[in-house]
Amino acid sequence: MEPFARDALPGRVVLGAGAAEDTVPAGAAQAAREEAVTAEVLASFGGADAPRYREIMESLVRHLHAFAREVRLTETEWQQGIDFLTRAGHITDDRRQEFILLSDVLGLSMLTVAINAPASAGATEATVVGPFFVAGAPEVPLGGDIAGGAKGRPCYVSGAVRGTGGEPVPGARIEVWESDEDGFYDVQYPDGRIGGRGWLRSAPDGGYRFWSVRPAPYPIPDDGPVGDLLTAAGRGPMRPAHLHFKVDAPGYRTLITHIFVAGDPYLDRDAVFGVKESLITDFAEHPPGRGPDGRLSDEPWTSVTFDIVLARLPHVPQAPGI
Ligand code: BEZ
Ligand code: FE
Repeated sequence: MEPFARDALPGRVVLGAGAAEDTVPAGAAQAAREEAVTAEVLASFGGADAPRYREIMESLVRHLHAFAREVRLTETEWQQGIDFLTRAGHITDDRRQEFILLSDVLGLSMLTVAINAPASAGATEATVVGPFFVAGAPEVPLGGDIAGGAKGRPCYVSGAVRGTGGEPVPGARIEVWESDEDGFYDVQYPDGRIGGRGWLRSAPDGGYRFWSVRPAPYPIPDDGPVGDLLTAAGRGPMRPAHLHFKVDAPGYRTLITHIFVAGDPYLDRDAVFGVKESLITDFAEHPPGRGPDGRLSDEPWTSVTFDIVLARLPHVPQAPGI
């Protein structure tokens, strides 16, 4: 990305390369010309049947146009924007999702999480889903191992699933996924094997437990346009070590979150703004020996306990006779 330059004179915007587009005239006539474009586009959505579609598109147009006016967007700069989006499209396939990455590094993903998961008293906080969740992970029994050959120190993860009233939630579907110790998710492996992901159900008392590998910090994929954006901003691509959860249970709001490893050096500069204090968790280190379930480890292992608290869905009364 090329840097953009704004000169010191009020009312004038200069782009390094331009000539005709160098100077933007100020004044009421100019403002009226610009407003007329916006008004015409807004009117074009007036006939939309779906009110929500119309609301979203009209707001999008208002804000996009306001953005272009505010920065006095030049045609060269807009072309750079188009080129950026084109590159994002070309690099995206069913294993690489550059548009989710873009939403993540712009904080739009976390803003959407905040809008849709208002803090429900006592419920576990949500965070960004990221681009590495894939449906169809293998089921593991309670106490099973989701590592599937992923490299890393063994890690025993356990806790309980409860509702905000303290009631146990049995049979919750707990989906987990994480990178290996080199910072790669299985979808980034060239050979298509599955590792570091799986799902299990909570026990009748709400308890859950499984083996996995100790999470490691890793860079988000930065060899595409989103990486260039980070570089131009002087930002790093790193995410602090974490383990992803997606928890579903009837009557409760689906929770998508991670737990972060306390003490990780990247907790205060997560590339995607996903860290929340309440999700930072102590991971304990143990010498070789038996785990809590009696499994013998001939190498050091790690353990973490994390209770998952789900918010109830609002009760929707059914009309009589339905
Ligand atoms: C992740 O944690 O898997 C992730 C989230 C956002 C962007 C890239 C990766
Ligand atoms: Fe992740």
